[in-house]
Amino acid sequence: MPLYHSLGSIPPKRHTQFRKPDGSLYAEELVSTEGFSSLYSLVYHAYPPTIVKTLGEPYSVEPKIAREKHLKHTSLIGFNIQPEDDYLQSRKPVLVNSDLHISLAAPRQSMTDYFYKNSQADEVVFIHEGSGTLKTGFGNIKFQYGDYLVIPRGTIYQMEFDGTANRLFIVESFSPIRPPKRYRNQYGQLMEHSPYCERDIKLPANLKTYDEHGDFKILIKKQGLIYPYIYATHPFDFIGWDGFHYPWALSIHDFEPITGRLHQPPPVHQTFEGNNFVICSFVPRKFDYHPLSIPAPYNHSNVDSDEVLYYVDGDFMSRKSVVKGQITLHPGGIPHGPHPGSVEKSIGKESTDELAVMIDPFRPLMLTEDAIKIEDENYYKSWQY
Ligand SMILES: [Fe+2]
Repeated sequence: MPLYHSLGSIPPKRHTQFRKPDGSLYAEELVSTEGFSSLYSLVYHAYPPTIVKTLGEPYSVEPKIAREKHLKHTSLIGFNIQPEDDYLQSRKPVLVNSDLHISLAAPRQSMTDYFYKNSQADEVVFIHEGSGTLKTGFGNIKFQYGDYLVIPRGTIYQMEFDGTANRLFIVESFSPIRPPKRYRNQYGQLMEHSPYCERDIKLPANLKTYDEHGDFKILIKKQGLIYPYIYATHPFDFIGWDGFHYPWALSIHDFEPITGRLHQPPPVHQTFEGNNFVICSFVPRKFDYHPLSIPAPYNHSNVDSDEVLYYVDGDFMSRKSVVKGQITLHPGGIPHGPHPGSVEKSIGKESTDELAVMIDPFRPLMLTEDAIKIEDENYYKSWQY
C-alpha cells in the first residue's frame, strides 16, 4: 500500500545494531518488490528468517484447463463450489490467464497447523460470507463481509475464521495490486476524486511477537507448485517493522459511488489495478438523474477485454434470475447487454442496491475443470425473448 506504516519496535536508523535485552542482535530483513525499485518494508525478527529444518515434496496446484479457447457468454454458479475444511484445498481456480487467476473458496476451518505464503502472486481475497482475522507477522486485520483483503506476495499468513460458513472470491495477481494511478497524486496520496481515501484503508494492527522454536510448516506457492517448508522458528517473530509493503484491507461498503445525470462508464467503479486487468466495485447508488436517462447499461462490445462479474448481493437490474455468488464471463469479441425487458424496467428507478465485483482482464480467460462443473450451460441463450 502506498502509505507508510510501522508497528512494534524498530531502531532509529536502518541497517544499524538493534539488540535484544540479552545483548544479541535482532535479525533485520528487507522485504522488497520489483527488485529494489518499488514498495518495501524493513522487518526486525527475533531470529533470522532463514533457518530451514526440512523440505517436503512439492506438489502441483496448477489449474487444470478445460476450455482454453472459447467465444461464449458463460455463467458459473459460484455457490455450487462445495465447502471444504482446509483453506488451501478449498480454493478452486475457475478463470485463469497469465496475468491473474480467479478462484472461489468455501473453507470451513481456520488454518491452525500450517502457514501459507504465495510467492508468485499478490492476493485479493474478497469476503462474501464469513468473518475472522487475517494473521500475519506484520500484525492482524479483522475481516468481515465486504472486505477486500490485499495480501502482497511473500506475506506469510493464516486465515482464522469465526465460523464455518465462509465464501471467498479470490484474485491472484502476477503483478502488484494497487489503487489506480489516476486516483493518486505524484506523492501517492489518494486524491479528492478517488472513491476511497486513506481513512478507509484497514491497516494491520496488534503486532504480537511469537518468540518460539519448533517445527513451523509453511506452504509456499511458487510457479504453480506448493513447497512444504519446515522452519525452526515461528514466522510471526516480528519485533517491529516499517515501510510500505504489508497486507491491508478495504471494505466494498466504503467505496463511494460516482454518479451522474447520465449512465456512468465502468471505470468510475474501478477499485484496484494490476498489469492487464482492473478490479471494480458496483455498490448501492442513486441512478442517473437526467429526465430521460436510462439507468440500465447500454449494449456493449468489449472488443479487446473479457468482462467478469461476480454477484454479491442486491437486485441486479440488468440481469434476470441472477443468484448470489454467480459469475458471468462476457468474452471480448461479441457484444453483451441488458437482458430483455430490463431496459424499460429500469426507467424511472431512482436507486439500486446491487453489489458486485467486476474484473476486466485484457487477455482472454481460460476455464478450468472446476469452472465447467458449475457452469450454467444455457446462459448464452439468456438474451432470447
Ligand atoms: Fe460491459
